[in-house]
Amino acid sequence: MKIFKHVPQPAAALAMIFIVACGATNAHAKVDYHGIPLGAAAAKQGGALIAVCAACHGITGTSAATEYPNLAAQRYNYLLKQLEDFRDGARKSTIMSGMAMTIPASADNQNLKEIAAYFSRQPLLTAGVAAVPGARANAAQLKEGQKIYTQGLASDNIPACAACHGLGADGNGPMAIPALALQHAVYLLTQLDQFASGARSNSPGQVMTSIARTMTKQQMTAVAVYLQQLNPDSTLGIGPKNYHEYVRAVDLRQQAKKSSAVAAPQSAAQPKTETSKSKPKR
Ligand code: HEC
Ligand code: HEC
Repeated sequence: MKIFKHVPQPAAALAMIFIVACGATNAHAKVDYHGIPLGAAAAKQGGALIAVCAACHGITGTSAATEYPNLAAQRYNYLLKQLEDFRDGARKSTIMSGMAMTIPASADNQNLKEIAAYFSRQPLLTAGVAAVPGARANAAQLKEGQKIYTQGLASDNIPACAACHGLGADGNGPMAIPALALQHAVYLLTQLDQFASGARSNSPGQVMTSIARTMTKQQMTAVAVYLQQLNPDSTLGIGPKNYHEYVRAVDLRQQAKKSSAVAAPQSAAQPKTETSKSKPKR
């Protein structure tokens, strides 16, 4: 995938335009969903608009299957754009193009706005995100992913993903740039593949198409695996300071769960709030 070396660095140039346009430091704007009142259909878990989505994305937007993206805590503007793109055919997916048709049309897109607002308000539960297989064993892969994500690879003309998606990978609301932290690696990899092949072509100015085409499969995998275990709190100084600590914390929690399940099976009925760490709301 080195064809891009011979043309004037399109991905890097596009990245610069975006960085200038979004002021680069604006990655933590948290208030993009405010002011969208939830109507009865979406206000409650299991409201009519949400119920159909829950089968795949989970009732609060944390999905159990790794090919279905988590929607919880995703940027409101990004979710709304994707729903419009699925509906209008700008983004194609056998499943989601059909799903978008099931959402009743409404004045001023109210239904789509409510769905986007509902999911963007849900905390992302790390407990619901499958552990990265071999995360600790494959430290080299995580390191490569972190390097690509935070610094890019100038030699391969790959821009730093963090420039647009934010250092904590929590996206950018006003720019409709998605959060990527704690997203399923399988889903992220599929999207990078689809951008590269042209199957997904809805990024503004084809920016993600240009970027994905500079990447090898190995580089895509490394960055996807890195993102799945990235705790966005770490750059905000709230949560574990780095991914090693994070992976260790998850291990410890799982061990504690196992041993308490052996000692006292009835404890399984306890509320799960302690094991589910929530992202700050945005
Ligand atoms: C049968 C499973 C299924 C159901 C039901 C479903 N989805 Fe999806 N959804 C998917 C899959 C698969 C994708 C990834 C599509 C792709 O690869 O482009 C997806 C992607 C999305 C995305 C894009 C997320 C991102 O990060 O870009 C949004 C938004 C979304 N779905 C919203 C909804 C809403 C709202 C509903 C209910 C009206 C719904 N989905 C119902 C399977 C499902
Ligand atoms: C110049 C800004 C920019 C840079 C740099 C950038 N992205 Fe993106 N990315 C975007 C935008 C904008 C979107 C949303 C596209 C859309 O509207 O569908 C996006 C979407 C994505 C998605 C789809 C997420 C989802 O939920 O479906 C993935 C995956 C992704 N980017 C990964 C990366 C990776 C990995 C890098 C670094 C190698 C990177 N991006 C660098 C702007 C950027």
